[in-house]
Amino acid sequence: MNFELKALDLNALANDKSDAIIVLLADGFKPGKDKISALIAQVSKSGDLPVKAGKTLAVYHPALLGTPRLVLASIGDGSAKQTRNGINAAMASVKAVEAKKVTVAFTHAANAAALRAVVQGVADNTYSYTTTKSKGEPRKLTHVQIASSNAAALNSVFDRAVAIVTGVEVAKEWANRPANHATPTLLGKAAQALAKHPKISCQVLGPKEVAKLGMGSFMAVAQGSDEPLRFIVLQYNGAAKAKAPTVLVGKGITFDSGGISIKPAGEMDEMKFDMSGAASVLGVFATLAELKPAINVVGLIPSCENLINGRAVKPGDVVTSMSGQTIEILNTDAEGRLVLCDALTYAERFKPAAVIDIATLTGACVVALGNVRSGMFCADDAMAKALIAAGETAQDLCWQLPLDDEYADGLKTHFADVANVAGRAGGAISAAKFLQRFTEKKYPWAHLDIAGTAWKSGAAKGATGRPVGLLVEFLTK
Ligand code: BES
Ligand code: MN
Ligand code: ZN
Repeated sequence: MNFELKALDLNALANDKSDAIIVLLADGFKPGKDKISALIAQVSKSGDLPVKAGKTLAVYHPALLGTPRLVLASIGDGSAKQTRNGINAAMASVKAVEAKKVTVAFTHAANAAALRAVVQGVADNTYSYTTTKSKGEPRKLTHVQIASSNAAALNSVFDRAVAIVTGVEVAKEWANRPANHATPTLLGKAAQALAKHPKISCQVLGPKEVAKLGMGSFMAVAQGSDEPLRFIVLQYNGAAKAKAPTVLVGKGITFDSGGISIKPAGEMDEMKFDMSGAASVLGVFATLAELKPAINVVGLIPSCENLINGRAVKPGDVVTSMSGQTIEILNTDAEGRLVLCDALTYAERFKPAAVIDIATLTGACVVALGNVRSGMFCADDAMAKALIAAGETAQDLCWQLPLDDEYADGLKTHFADVANVAGRAGGAISAAKFLQRFTEKKYPWAHLDIAGTAWKSGAAKGATGRPVGLLVEFLTK
């Protein structure tokens, strides 16, 4: 799908031969003297003009215009949110007619947030997963032309939005793939493919190397599966070598059965999405490859399955993490923190400016925040603020949750330095407190719990590609 941003006005669009032209009408729109405005004035006179964000009116074979379909879509106050509502509704009619070339026209000078909402909205509404279907139907839309009078001023925002779409779609693809088509080995190969880009390098470690590093916690999760683990190290070098990198750590559990603490059967298939954090790291690197910003970024992905065989880790087993801390595994279903803690220790060697882990970590976070905002934990105020702001810019929201030390009380045990679970209450927070033990005094750190935001269940079941937008915005702001 090819996006273009142009400074076309409604007058110029009268002859545009796109399969459909979507005109975004903000409150207070005043028709001009062009042919499209004349038509809008007629519609308005009949009282049929959509005036609430998300309402549309399609006009077929409008006389005197080049396009066979004109879709009028209200975007209310023109904010990112209402523009998104307008685009979602307009794309539904455009998708139904399988349009290949679409023009989306602002009738006023678009603001940056609304432009981003259009780019992401068009992409989300036409995304199609095909990999494991025998007759998958790929996206029909090939050309998207966006018209705004102030196009020149929006060029860099536009480029960033388009590059984020690339990353979001990489993340969606890998998260959507079933576990037998997205094994740790295949994730490693996907990362290696990204290293074709001159600024990206990749190293994939297997069981032997991981054992040598002493990642006893990660290995304990992996030992219940016949599928070999992978520890993926991606590096994007856009700045001088001496510049401290930001490290992203993505949870890469390609299937989470719960292990011996097995999950109930209903909806267990959704645990193929348990590598969404890893998928978002791959997505961020795909975006960096396009944007080529002058920064350094490291991506770490501890990847394995959480399954059950005769060698599987058992409740009560004590393992030694790479940090030297011993962990009593009271619940084998709290496996995400066990693979992440060793990756967080490994991150120290990069002397990072900051570390962010991204994980579908707890059902408790879904209960707390639903699927609107990701949970964000961070003891560094400036970093927390920057993450919140990045989420708002990208319309990929997060919400800060607390890290009071009392939340770690439940992790105390008589048999190891720390237990991997506390009680049910505040479960997203005690998980974050567990991770924090492996980061303290080493580097500024944030944890994003994306259990509720990385995918949708129900009719629209599938990966969302979040939080690629938030992360790219944080890294490149
Ligand atoms: N991958 C799950 C978290 C999850 C649950 C994500 C539901 C999305 C939807 C994680 O590994 C897990 O099982 N967490 C447990 C932790 C508990 C045992 C302390 C949970 O949330 O139930
Ligand atoms: Mn689990
Ligand atoms: Zn999990």
